[in-house]
Amino acid sequence: MKLLYEGKAKRIYETENPNEVICEFKDALTAFNGEKADSEAGKGALNCAITTLIFEALEKEGIPTHLIKKIDETKQLVKKVKIIPIEVVVRNIAAGSLSKRLGLKEGEKLPFSIIEFYYKNDELNDPLINDDHAMILNLVEDRKELDILREYGRKVNNFLKEFFDKVGLILVDFKIEFGKDKEGNIILADEITPDSCRLWDKKTGKKMDKDLFRFDLGDIKEAYKEVLNRLKEVK
Ligand code: TMP
Ligand code: ASP
Repeated sequence: MKLLYEGKAKRIYETENPNEVICEFKDALTAFNGEKADSEAGKGALNCAITTLIFEALEKEGIPTHLIKKIDETKQLVKKVKIIPIEVVVRNIAAGSLSKRLGLKEGEKLPFSIIEFYYKNDELNDPLINDDHAMILNLVEDRKELDILREYGRKVNNFLKEFFDKVGLILVDFKIEFGKDKEGNIILADEITPDSCRLWDKKTGKKMDKDLFRFDLGDIKEAYKEVLNRLKEVK
């Protein structure tokens, strides 16, 4: 398989079909733009299983995604897309960079869910941007596309908040990415995993996501396994 691209947590391989690629989930873990790095055997397989389950559920809800099917423990067959270099972050509760930037206490419930855009650019450390910035950087074709990203962000949040709630998890915030397929449609791509979400246990408040690794708070594998097992019960 020819490697097309390697990122911090995934590898993308070519297939015989020019419109499809294989996405492999790595065991590598990074945080703070790669400053902190480690690896956890089995993390890739857990994330592959979790994101597959979530994307299948989102498809059923009418949200188009790049997922075609899971092909083995760590790999998915997905539609080839051109990634829009914007990280769409949706937040329900204050945490992480929002708490730091605005001085909000971690755990404070936001009066309404908020959406932020970050420019996906490692050299610049993924800065927070607004619509005007996205336009002058030509990250999208027009402002309508930014509205589409926000609309999908809200839909994904509305669905996932309830999805996780059913299994006793609070969806604090998450990051999603979109791409354009060969017809130019904007579809959900990348992943939704405990690497890209903040998930807190409803009863105990325990963190069950990558913050465990970011701040050395505990065993991520046990937490991710627990997230997968709980999600398997839903449906
Ligand atoms: P933040 O509070 O650090 O801005 O993160 C918001 C959410 O986005 C959190 O659920 C973690 C996720 N995220 C990523 O998936 N990738 C990233 O590079 C960053 C900074 C955050
Ligand atoms: N994903 C980013 C990194 O790998 C940042 C983070 O998630 O904290 O460095």
